[in-house]
Amino acid sequence: MTAPILDTKEEHLAAIRECADALKARFGDIPDVLVVAGSGLGAFSERMTETDSASYDELKNFPRSTVVGHAGRLVLGRAGGRRIVLMSGRKHVYEGVDVRLTVLPLQALVMAGVKTVVLSNAAGAMNRTFRPGDLMLIEDHVNLQFRNPLVGPNLDETGPRFPDMCAPYDPGLLALARETARTEGIRLHEGVYLALTGPTYETQAEVQMYRTMADAVGMSTVAETTAAVHAGARVLGISAITNSHVLKTGVVTTHEEVMEIGKHVSDEFCRLVEGIVARL
Ligand code: HPA
Repeated sequence: MTAPILDTKEEHLAAIRECADALKARFGDIPDVLVVAGSGLGAFSERMTETDSASYDELKNFPRSTVVGHAGRLVLGRAGGRRIVLMSGRKHVYEGVDVRLTVLPLQALVMAGVKTVVLSNAAGAMNRTFRPGDLMLIEDHVNLQFRNPLVGPNLDETGPRFPDMCAPYDPGLLALARETARTEGIRLHEGVYLALTGPTYETQAEVQMYRTMADAVGMSTVAETTAAVHAGARVLGISAITNSHVLKTGVVTTHEEVMEIGKHVSDEFCRLVEGIVARL
């Protein structure tokens, strides 16, 4: 894909609009619920029914993820008895692109009809009580990526110049997720997610600092949350804890480990998301 030009407000808006129009032309009506599956969580698509899907390569202005474990497919179908759209895989800033490009598909999907966004990711634990394989509801976040997708001319047609971020993760959706976890017997932590650019994992000195700020760290989600809030969509965030820096200080973390644990936690993750979608 040649990257769309985002230099002026008009070019940026046109790039999002082109993507939204291409999605509607390819799929027809776009469901109002979007699920974004992070590292190792793409198996969610296998549990969906009545699916129609396309590779990101086929979709106008959709950046393809180069990361192993990110399928790079958009899947429309049913989950939890409801029509949803699934992004299986996402583009990250560590792949070397403008952060605005990483959120463009989400902005286009919101423009095309999405109203509720469920974001997921693989994350490393900073909280000592978390274990690999656990799930964490994101109650708030810290953005240490030092990039904000709303920097640049404001897209007034999409949202305000200075969006409020006092509750980016929708309180109603958080309540729904808690109720689902209780009913389904799924252990669900809650905490603060800290976003970093990566692609390196954390040094021991960084772990000491981040532990004072957050319960889990990762390399995604926060830019998407910011863009979704700006565009007026409701957001829920779920982290799959794939590794712990606190329990294993000095032990090497690998992408393979993150992927493997992601797969193990996948069943509970799928049940949780299906339960939430069913209750919407
Ligand atoms: N750090 C940053 N990102 C991650 C981690 C981690 O430990 N695990 C999964 N994504």
